[in-house]
Amino acid sequence: MQQRERLAEIAEQIRSCTRCPLHQTRTRAVPGEGPAQPRVMLIGEAPGFYEDRSGRPFVGAAGRFLNALLARAGLTREEVFITNIVKCRPPRNRDPLPAEVEACKPYLEEQIRLLNPQVIVTLGRFAMAYFLPQARISRVHGQPFQVGDRWVVPMYHPAAGLYREALRPVIEADFDRLRAFLDALSRQGKLSLS
Ligand code: URA
Repeated sequence: MQQRERLAEIAEQIRSCTRCPLHQTRTRAVPGEGPAQPRVMLIGEAPGFYEDRSGRPFVGAAGRFLNALLARAGLTREEVFITNIVKCRPPRNRDPLPAEVEACKPYLEEQIRLLNPQVIVTLGRFAMAYFLPQARISRVHGQPFQVGDRWVVPMYHPAAGLYREALRPVIEADFDRLRAFLDALSRQGKLSLS
């Protein structure tokens, strides 16, 4: 099966998933969206109110801030794949439970395997903990880590910049650094091809 078809098949499985109790309270599951061969994949926590309504990731206020942050990193929504650790909205936006993260894990693992991004940007501590379980977001935000054969860059969740005014410039600076990091990776890529 073609990679694109397999991605679509996973999205369909997610939309009809009943692996954890979150399916009972969701309006729509949110599989994620973006190109089949992205250089950068973004992983958030879980859908919120507007994502649950629309079936699309990061379409609410945090999503609008994320779009501005992507622009700082020299990226557009169209060129990145965006998904979440948990694909269904937890009631009242509570934190996802370990059992929910575990139930959703096979979908994320398969998405990562198929998309094979060079860089994964995690948004918030749940997505960070998935790759860097020992890390503290206040210490490592904005720093690239090599995990297997990819880079993981843990970022504060964009929503944190909306409700903690002081974090906003910190998050913006992290995305400025991401731009410099991606540029450096591109230059290395060119060098190794020549
Ligand atoms: N917050 C997230 O973590 N993910 C979304 O899709 C929306 C808000």
